[in-house]
Amino acid sequence: MNISIIGAGNIGGSLGKIWASKGHSIFFGVRNPNSEKTKKSLSEAGSTAIALFVKEAAQRSDVIVLATPWESVPEVVFQIVDMKNKILVDCTNPIRPNPDWPLAQGTSAAEEIAKRLLGFHVVKAFNTLGAANLIDVQFNAVQADGFICGDDEASKAVVTQLAKEIGLRPVDVGGLRNAELLESLAKLWITLAYQQGIGPNIAFKLLQR
Ligand SMILES: NC(=O)c1ccc[n+]([C@@H]2O[C@H](COP(=O)([O-])OP(=O)(O)OC[C@H]3O[C@@H](n4cnc5c(N)ncnc54)[C@H](OP(=O)(O)O)[C@@H]3O)[C@@H](O)[C@H]2O)c1
Repeated sequence: MNISIIGAGNIGGSLGKIWASKGHSIFFGVRNPNSEKTKKSLSEAGSTAIALFVKEAAQRSDVIVLATPWESVPEVVFQIVDMKNKILVDCTNPIRPNPDWPLAQGTSAAEEIAKRLLGFHVVKAFNTLGAANLIDVQFNAVQADGFICGDDEASKAVVTQLAKEIGLRPVDVGGLRNAELLESLAKLWITLAYQQGIGPNIAFKLLQR
């Protein structure tokens, strides 16, 4: 599969490296092909991955992964807004406020993106654990969960398969209206890792019996 990843930093680079190793063609969408982050992500993803400017990269794939800081999202959305029939996998977390796109209580970054990208099916995924964890999602004998939500079942099925390829156990959290919950879960992850001093080698697991 062709996968375009907009943002070649921690999370974009980790996803690109893993999916390239599974045989997918990776197109990083970047604003600076010569930045240190772009060069590192390209070298880790191997010789089949390439970096292009954002719009050109997005045109190459039906699956576009959004992996930039929330503050950069309006600029990225502006460049891809006219595209049609794409899956947009939103990994962003609105940690800092974005004055251009204020988030009202009860909504989410993913829903704000979906409101503007009318030709896309938006799926929220890969935002609830640290990028370094993606490389190894086994915690002793326990498999980390990958929480996914979105309104289009076929698009969620594609993202579910991509989550399985990472080694995550996919957990369907329902429609995109629940993205707010996943963005809050990410805030809990950050609080536990960095403010409570547990460190970033943690992930969430839904227990069931
Ligand atoms: N890090 C994590 O563990 C983690 C986990 C889950 C979710 N997230 C979320 O994922 C997103 C990215 O986090 P990160 O830690 O990967 O950030 P990062 O390491 O700072 O990487 C961000 C990337 O986005 C690129 N970028 C910024 N503005 C851009 C624009 N306008 N057009 C194209 N590319 C642009 C940067 O490019 P330059 O090289 O040009 O600056 C950089 O490659 C955030 O929303 C974050 O909340 C992060």
